[in-house]
Amino acid sequence: MLNNSFTIRFASLNLEKNQVMQRTQPLRMFLTLTLFSGFAAACAQTARPLPLARTPPMGWNSWNHFAQTVTDTDVRAAADAMVANGMRDAGYIYVNIDDSWEGTRDADGILRSNDKFPDMKALANYVHSKGLKLGIYSSPGAKTCAKYEGSLGYEAQDAKTYAEWGIDFLKYDLCSYGDVLRKEGQGNVAAAFPLQKQAYRKMYDALVATGRPIVYSLCQYGMNSVWEWGPAVGGNLWRTTGDIKDTYERMSLIGFAQAGLSKYAGPGHWNDPDMLEVGNGGMNGDEYRTHMSLWVMLAAPLLAGNDLSRMNAETLAILENRDAISIDQDPLGAQGDRLSAVGSMEIWSKPLSDGSDAVALFNRGELETPMTLKMSDLNLENAVKLHDVWANKDITILNGTYTAVVPKHGVVLLRIRKQ
Ligand code: GLA
Repeated sequence: MLNNSFTIRFASLNLEKNQVMQRTQPLRMFLTLTLFSGFAAACAQTARPLPLARTPPMGWNSWNHFAQTVTDTDVRAAADAMVANGMRDAGYIYVNIDDSWEGTRDADGILRSNDKFPDMKALANYVHSKGLKLGIYSSPGAKTCAKYEGSLGYEAQDAKTYAEWGIDFLKYDLCSYGDVLRKEGQGNVAAAFPLQKQAYRKMYDALVATGRPIVYSLCQYGMNSVWEWGPAVGGNLWRTTGDIKDTYERMSLIGFAQAGLSKYAGPGHWNDPDMLEVGNGGMNGDEYRTHMSLWVMLAAPLLAGNDLSRMNAETLAILENRDAISIDQDPLGAQGDRLSAVGSMEIWSKPLSDGSDAVALFNRGELETPMTLKMSDLNLENAVKLHDVWANKDITILNGTYTAVVPKHGVVLLRIRKQ
């Protein structure tokens, strides 16, 4: 489907066709080749049997809404909600406890959960009984970011404990290990790169040694171009950025900065621009649809970060939109990338396994704007079928152009098929 590559032009702007074509023509071939070479490299570099995280992990994480207040009750409520509201059936499987579950170590060094989590094994059993999986959090440092007990010096023991509890996912957050790196690098954390890599690999080896398939999520905010070495230390996903916030400014800054990283993602190993904020209240519907659309175009992990037991219909409709999810979870596993950016308008595309393309028209500006797709610029015939994901509308195009009005901070997300 190489001839299915496309380019896009705004009717209102005079973007030179040649310039755009040059930039975008080889996109599909490039993505296909890099995807498969990345996939092969990941298999060769890790002893991990696939298909762990064959598609970007989906689920929920406690941090964005509950932060340090999260309890066993909240986690059970999240699991219950995921079953009751259809999220589990839409693909959200991981229920991830973030920082603040950690208690103290016993005389043998075995880490116990704190009072908020009286019985981690019972919690795992509960979550598993719902057809879901349980995730947990730690740090290669002595302390986590919220100053709880980290895994430094106890990696093998902690991995064993997680496996005994029935944990399925570990987020491993650099936090105070930064101090160790700073010392090693004489003030420069990035200079201590080999030690950092070693620390992440150490926990991976400990996880593998347990024999339990545990998805491994690296969190070190994208330092040292983690996407280049994440697979080599066993990462199934790696944070590419600092923390997200529930504001359009921060979400869009992080999300749109992912341009250029597509070649590093593929089945089993994903770029992670951080967890979702959809439904936490700091953005409007258009902005949350932009957030979700951008994340699915990026083949990003979809870890909801809101209170699932108190969710309005619009939030649920965004999180559960099957067409949006199918773009994220497409079996080809190709991350989308930016085709063009003109002023505040950006066009992103993502090739899909059935030969169709997902295309997102993003308006980062402060005024609603008409944007026009010219099918000839997409290397397509005049006649195509579009599906507008958020409007849930099929549109047949016969004359080679499609114009949509994109709201301020909003998006039009399309799936485009040849007739
Ligand atoms: C860091 C991570 C966040 C969260 C907190 C917990 O800031 O980036 O995602 O895990 O630590 O303390």
